[in-house]
Amino acid sequence: MHSRTGGINRDLFTTTISGALHVTVELGMGDGRVLEKLAKTKTLGEMSLYIGIEKDADQYSQALSRINLANVWLINSCFEDIVPLLPDSSIDCFLAVLPDPDYIDQHKSKSWDNLYRILYFKLKHGGLLQIITEITNDLFEPVKDAEYNEWVLWLRTTFESMGFKVTYQLEGAPAEYSSRCLDQFRGGGERIRMVTLVLVRP
Ligand SMILES: C[S@@+](CC[C@H](N)C(=O)[O-])C[C@H]1O[C@@H](n2cnc3c(N)ncnc32)[C@H](O)[C@@H]1O
Repeated sequence: MHSRTGGINRDLFTTTISGALHVTVELGMGDGRVLEKLAKTKTLGEMSLYIGIEKDADQYSQALSRINLANVWLINSCFEDIVPLLPDSSIDCFLAVLPDPDYIDQHKSKSWDNLYRILYFKLKHGGLLQIITEITNDLFEPVKDAEYNEWVLWLRTTFESMGFKVTYQLEGAPAEYSSRCLDQFRGGGERIRMVTLVLVRP
């Protein structure tokens, strides 16, 4: 299943999502490698639906050529236009693998805060938001532990202020995940340090 921006509305989401027991939505899925892996290995055959949203037409086309699975729905659009259309309390997991700075950078938090507040209410109670994000410094020097820890604490506090609880934290990204950007960033050593946070809507 795939869609360009046109033809997508609240009713389509309500109908499609109500037929699935478990729904995962990836924000900015790039070429779709992570989504493909999840859709193939996680809960195939259990009425699971995997929705990938990507605004870049080229990345979207690459994901489209890569994934040919009945339980995956790829959408070529901006996630800030799509997330509000999802039914409240309907999503089991949102995934953001290395979101662009506009959606996670500390200095831009005023512009992205509202997106995650909306997303919170789209999660089922017990539903998860998994974010993998990175820190570098202005001089592109190795990121010191103190700098890293302060940044992670800020991230945790920011999401907790929206109502999320942190259920899991990992330095780096899950070993089983591979994506275009993850593979690049893993080569950055101590200059690019990543964190995985799993946040739950209680
Ligand atoms: C840093 S890349 C990460 C891509 C992929 N997750 C990966 O790990 O390779 C961020 C992706 O988010 C997409 N993106 C940025 N803003 C977006 C938005 N508002 N809606 C949908 N996709 C967006 C970009 O086009 C890009 O593919």
